[in-house]
Amino acid sequence: MDYRQLADQMARDIETGRLKPGQQLPPQRRYAWDRGIAVSTASRAYAELVRRGLAMGEVGRGTFVRAKMPPTSWPGVLADSPSLLDLERVWPILPHQSRMIADCLRALLRDASLDAMQTLAIPEGDSQQRAIVARFLRRNSWQPQADAITFAGSGRQAIGAALAAIAKPGDRIGFEALTYPMAKAMALQCGLVPVPIEMDEHGMSVAALEAAHASQRLAGIYVQPTMHNPTTRTMPVERRIDLARFLEATGLIAIEDGIYSYLEAQAPPPLASYTPNRVIFIESLSKRVAPGMSVGMLVLPPPLYDQVVLSLRARAVAPNGLALAAVCRLISDGLVDELTVQKRADATQRVRLAAEMLAPLKISAPGCGYHVWLELDDPWRAETFVAACVKRGIAMTAAPIFHVGRASPNAVRIALASPPLATLRAALAVVLQVALGGPDAPATE
Ligand SMILES: Cc1ncc(COP(=O)(O)O)c(C=O)c1O
Repeated sequence: MDYRQLADQMARDIETGRLKPGQQLPPQRRYAWDRGIAVSTASRAYAELVRRGLAMGEVGRGTFVRAKMPPTSWPGVLADSPSLLDLERVWPILPHQSRMIADCLRALLRDASLDAMQTLAIPEGDSQQRAIVARFLRRNSWQPQADAITFAGSGRQAIGAALAAIAKPGDRIGFEALTYPMAKAMALQCGLVPVPIEMDEHGMSVAALEAAHASQRLAGIYVQPTMHNPTTRTMPVERRIDLARFLEATGLIAIEDGIYSYLEAQAPPPLASYTPNRVIFIESLSKRVAPGMSVGMLVLPPPLYDQVVLSLRARAVAPNGLALAAVCRLISDGLVDELTVQKRADATQRVRLAAEMLAPLKISAPGCGYHVWLELDDPWRAETFVAACVKRGIAMTAAPIFHVGRASPNAVRIALASPPLATLRAALAVVLQVALGGPDAPATE
């Protein structure tokens, strides 16, 4: 039998559930022996399954069936099973914030500005909106200019438009080897080639970036210097300076995603402040306020302004007038700053709880944050672990979703934003029990 037919057969077994996510396939020699075929044919069939994204091979440990989600799939486990407890999404919404927002928006709707909101918003917004957002984004010594500000419907739209503005199909874009999955998916959708750049404890490695660019030209990078999703790492000043130098020397553009940076009150200045002509800075209110009450905000380098605005227009991703006016009102009334302070307090409490409860495990927990990164010990594999937690009613995200490139680390992201604290505590106790029990422990349904 041809190796492709053998792969087809195993693919069907995966499709019908006879082979389950996380299940280890028999050693290739045994598989070959059972079928009376050459070991090299078995090897090729296994390689074909890996190539199709249905299985993953790990040196010295064997080949395992992948969870039923291609690496770029999103939003993940909860999409299929909405009743699971949500340790998957980072959607921080405080119980009382609707009341705060309602008070603020009531005033907006009484205003004469309702007339203005009914006209079509453009990516540039108006001069008052640009000024409000420029002031809001000021951080440390960084003072973005109002005429550098533009808007999109969301942070994702801003990232997509920025990627399309700096690269054309076939171009290579450097990503931290673990990255925001939608950014990777949007790059692929634009026909770009995501190139994994290794990270260390300080974030993207500049040496690895140099090597990737030297081996074949990159068109730009996408990077999260502060409170990286998923690893929670924050780049120290020295690394930002090195990265800025690299951008200046090569002329490459970085898309800096600052969407989680509000959680780090003491974070170093944005990468954009070190090299304003080489960085497109992106922020949104999805995490600071709520995913449904957001717009995307971009700070553009003057030389790229027209190019990115054209991309925002051509992709038709300007925010609608109501959303833009509402967000600017929430900012200028001080509500966003107030919520930021409250969310930092909430996130600190949650992450402390996670650090305390998961202390026996290898977790990266920031001082303040809405997610932690859990590295798993052998014999756990990320997808098997997620499957075991799903069995106990808890959703979270396996590392391959975030990974660019091949060998994904054995880790999961645990989001802490959604459940009430007492429920979170109980869920983390289950996660600990699962982790310590090992993959062969029977599930208590
Ligand atoms: C790193 C990162 N950037 C951007 C976004 C999306 O922002 P928005 O909801 O405004 O599109 C997310 C959402 O989870 C994110 O994790």
